[in-house]
Amino acid sequence: MNKIFQEKNGVYVLDHPLIQHKLALLRDKNTITKDFRELLSEVAMLMAYEVTRDLPLRPVDVETPMGTAHCHMLEGKKLALIPILRAGLGMVDGMTNLIPMAKIGHIGLYRDPVTLEPIEYYCKLPDDVENRVVILLDPMLATGGSAAAAVDFLKMRNIEDIKFVCLVAAPEGVNHLHASHPEIPIYCAAVDDGLDDHAYIVPGLGDAGDRLFGTK
Ligand code: PRP
Ligand code: URA
Repeated sequence: MNKIFQEKNGVYVLDHPLIQHKLALLRDKNTITKDFRELLSEVAMLMAYEVTRDLPLRPVDVETPMGTAHCHMLEGKKLALIPILRAGLGMVDGMTNLIPMAKIGHIGLYRDPVTLEPIEYYCKLPDDVENRVVILLDPMLATGGSAAAAVDFLKMRNIEDIKFVCLVAAPEGVNHLHASHPEIPIYCAAVDDGLDDHAYIVPGLGDAGDRLFGTK
């Protein structure tokens, strides 16, 4: 069987041609905010398809107009999507196109300018979130500080079943997240070269939040 993505040490690089094509457009500095927003949503939808590939199924018989079809439907834990504010918001609509029953939580983090510690400034999660598979969303995994802190905060709330989905990862971010939380699978469209002096991913795509919301 053809491999549908490359997996190494818990990092899944989703190399579907449509994802890679749209990622190239997202990286382009000439892509305007409107197109960036649409592309990010489209890529998120395609990623949802791959990220949910291991969901369990149960057999069901369905009566068609012609007879009985032996089919399969989803079973097991339900899903929750949790974007990290703000750029993670750009991945929610695309994901919910494919997973409309998922509940949505939000987690907001900023980095304290003195201590550089991530501070949680907002968190609102579904009531039953600890019984769900959580898909944590953020387009960028740079130093990994935000993602690792978000997972810390989720684990403090007894949430254990977590997948992290981003668009572009830096090796530093992968190492940081996996050093803190080795069991968490990381899904991305690319692992880039590294970080610049300001902790931006190189070549990356720039500041995802600013490009998504047109704030710069
Ligand atoms: C970006 C991005 C991640 C974080 C990644 O958000 O969306 O949350 O940086 O960097 P890290 O891996 O080094 O923590 P940012 O802090 O710029 O906030 P914003 O989404 O509000 O723009
Ligand atoms: N946050 C971004 O939005 N982009 C980067 O390259 C790094 C952190």
